[in-house]
Formats: sequence, structure tokens, C-alpha cells
Amino acid sequence: MTTKSQALLNWVDERFPLTSTWKAHLSEYYAPKNFNFWYFFGSLALLVLVLQIITGIFLVMHYKPDASLNAAGVPVAFASVEYIMREVPGGWLIRYLHSTGASAFFIVVYLHMFRGLIYGSYRKPRELIWIFGTLIFLALMAEAFMGYLLPWGQMSYWGAQVIVNLFSAIPIIGPDLSLVIRGDFVIGDATLNRFFSFHVIAVPLVLIGLVLAHIVALHEVGSNNPDGVEIKKKKDATGKPLDGIPFHPYYTVKDIVGVVVFLFFFSVVVFFMPEGGGYFLEYNNFIPANPMVTPPHIAPVWYFTPFYSILRAVTYPLFGLDAKFWGVVAMGASVVIIAFLPWLDRSPVKSIRYKGPVFKIALVIFVICFFILGYLGVLAPTPGRTLVSQICSVLYFAFFLLMPWYSKLDKVKPVPERVTFK
Ligand code: HEM
Repeated sequence: MTTKSQALLNWVDERFPLTSTWKAHLSEYYAPKNFNFWYFFGSLALLVLVLQIITGIFLVMHYKPDASLNAAGVPVAFASVEYIMREVPGGWLIRYLHSTGASAFFIVVYLHMFRGLIYGSYRKPRELIWIFGTLIFLALMAEAFMGYLLPWGQMSYWGAQVIVNLFSAIPIIGPDLSLVIRGDFVIGDATLNRFFSFHVIAVPLVLIGLVLAHIVALHEVGSNNPDGVEIKKKKDATGKPLDGIPFHPYYTVKDIVGVVVFLFFFSVVVFFMPEGGGYFLEYNNFIPANPMVTPPHIAPVWYFTPFYSILRAVTYPLFGLDAKFWGVVAMGASVVIIAFLPWLDRSPVKSIRYKGPVFKIALVIFVICFFILGYLGVLAPTPGRTLVSQICSVLYFAFFLLMPWYSKLDKVKPVPERVTFK
């Protein structure tokens, strides 16, 4: 560094902890040296978050949250999205980046959560990282749900109608609660305006705050790794973990590889198949919202469908409350139960590498059920499909609820003292 830039840095450091923050979180943050590709998804989730915020800022410059009809009889909100697609220079790109980014966010976050599941990253002392993660997941679902209403297409409208109506199944407060959410007796302009406000500012603020807390908690305890070995237990004479390497430059460079691979696949979708076969942008959403015409089949976007299937799997009333109410309870529980994993897993080892066959079989069944539920959630229900989704829902919950029992009895392998690294 030249004397002048060093002097400038000193000047800043005396007033703001720039160098010490850089050191604590990057150049002297020791991460286990055995990270594999599963560790790409945290930084990729950060990348997509930034992408969504930047593209969102540009979309808001042209988008209008207005449900009234323009001179051509088309809702203003719907027309403003078409305007972005056809008239705004580069508008189509910004919009496709944002719509593809929504699906990419969920793909990346699901893989990120799965990594946590297989390596036991939620176990002590990382419980809070996991809880912040579950809250991020909930916020992300709220963000995506409200964003989906904004184009004011048929699926936006009727999807919101179905989901907001669910809240009315809650005893006593339900009808008033759904009225507050809608701001009206039907999904309308008031709903569009409040969802817009939540989507562009309230939920993103919460998300950013939670992501910060997530990373602060992570840096407090240090990262887990594919062996589930605590690297802080073995340090050299200077106090550095023997199995750790500085995050910067080693993992900043490695993460760039993940970014390039991710951007390759992301670009293929954005430029060649932005509708993602009707899964990323549903075909019915190219039709303006019409409160008078219900589409024959309403399905949420793919990333909600496993939970939507659990909702629909509940078909029996209980304790005088109708099936819809218990469906909502089951759907909520299927997300909330994820937060309890740190206390459900009683295995003496963290990583799947040293866990026994029972956990592995339970995990495979869980993943298969999750995919089946996701697939069934896209389709219209039939008695046969409902039965399959009921079986899969039971197995989904069994994975969590039986974990204290099967994780204890499972035969585990000895965990090495140090991380394994080829
Ligand atoms: C916006 C969404 C999210 C972002 C930006 C984010 C970001 C990150 C980053 C940058 C890391 C460190 C790098 C890595 O270990 O991959 C991390 C670690 C972690 N995240 Fe997330 N995360 C998000 C959502 C979630 C969710 C939904 C969960 C779980 C419910 C979760 C659980 C974890 C855990 C357990 C770790 C520690 C992993 C370990 O040390 O092995 N994260 N996250």
C-alpha cells in the first residue's frame, strides 16, 4: 500500500472499524478447509437476494399497483407489466431476471437447507443460525406470495383469493383477519396496494435484517463442515484452527466458481425459457385478472406446492372444526417443525457421513415424499392423488417427529479427530 492510501485507511480506522471488520469476517475468519460444493449455496442465496433487490428497484420505477381498468379495459397493474416487457428499454430483461430470480432463490435456499440437514449444521452450537434460517424461509415465502399478486394476472388474483381465504378458517378471528389482509371483502385494489407495500419494503427489510443476524450468528460460532468436526477444538500455537483456512481469499475465490456455474444455468433460463415450462411463470398469468372468471385449475407456484399438498391432504373435520382449518394448521406446522430440528435430532454425530442406515433411509423417504407432495400440489386433486398426498404428509411429519427415537437407536460410525480432506 502507498503511504497515502495507508494514511487514508488509518484515518478511516480511527473513526470506523473497517480493517478489523474485514479481518474478523473475511481475511481472518477461519473456515474449515473441507467445504464441498454444498457450501456454495449460502453465498448464492446472498447473490440472488442482491439480484432481487436491484432488479426490484428498477421494476418499481415503471410498475403501477393499480387494479382499475385503463381505457383499453385492461387493469393498470397488468398493463404496466406489459409496458415494462414491451416498451421500457431492457425492461424484459429486468423482469425476467426478477421472475427467474424468485424460483432460483427457492432452488438455492432448498439446497442450502438440505446441506444443513445432511451435515447436521443445525446442531449445537448452531441452533440460532438454523432458527434465523427458518424465519428467513418464512419471510421468503411471504415475499414471493405477495410479489406474485403484483402482475394482477388470473393466477395472481385467484391464487391470492385461495390463500387469503384460508385465514378465514381460523376460529373466532379468521373472518376479520382475512378482511384485514385483503383490506376489502374481495381481493381488490386495496389488497394490491398493501401487498405492493409489503413486497417492496416491509418484508425485504425483515429479510435483510434476518440474513445479517444469520451471518453474525454463524461467525460467532464458526461454520460446520461435511465431517461435522468442530475445528475450533484443535488450534495451533497462535490460536488458529488447524483445520481452518482464511475465508478470504480461499473461499471468496472458490465461491466465484459457484457463481459462474450458477449464472450459466440462470442465464439459460432467463434467455431461452423464462417461463420455465409454465412453472416459473404460469401461463394463466398472461391473462389479466378477472374476478368474474375462475380458472378451471388454480395451483400455486412450484415452490409452495409441497406445503399446499399437505394443506389439501387434510380432508377430515375434527373437534367440530372443519377440514380447511386443520389443513391450515398442518401446512403451518410443516414449515414451523423445521425450526425444531436441533432438538429433535439426538444422534451422537452430526454429519450424514458418520450416521447410520436408519437416518439415511429416513432421509431418502423424506426427500421422495417432499418431491411427490410438490408434484401433486401442481395437479388437480383426485381421490387417488389425495390418498398419496395423505401418505406422504404422514411420512413428512414422521421424519421429524420420530427423529428423537430413530436418531438415538441408529448405529453410528466413529467421527475422526480432524476433518478429512483430499
Ligand atoms: C436469504 C436466504 C439465506 C441466505 C442469504 C443465507 C446465507 C448464508 C451464508 C452466506 C452462509 C455461510 C455459507 C454457507 O455455509 O453456505 C449460511 C450458512 C448457514 N445457513 Fe443460511 N442463508 C439463507 C437461508 C437459510 C435457511 C432458510 C436456512 C435453514 C432453515 C439456513 C441455514 C444455514 C445454516 C445451518 C448455516 C451454517 C452451515 C454450516 O456451517 O454448515 N440458511 N447461510
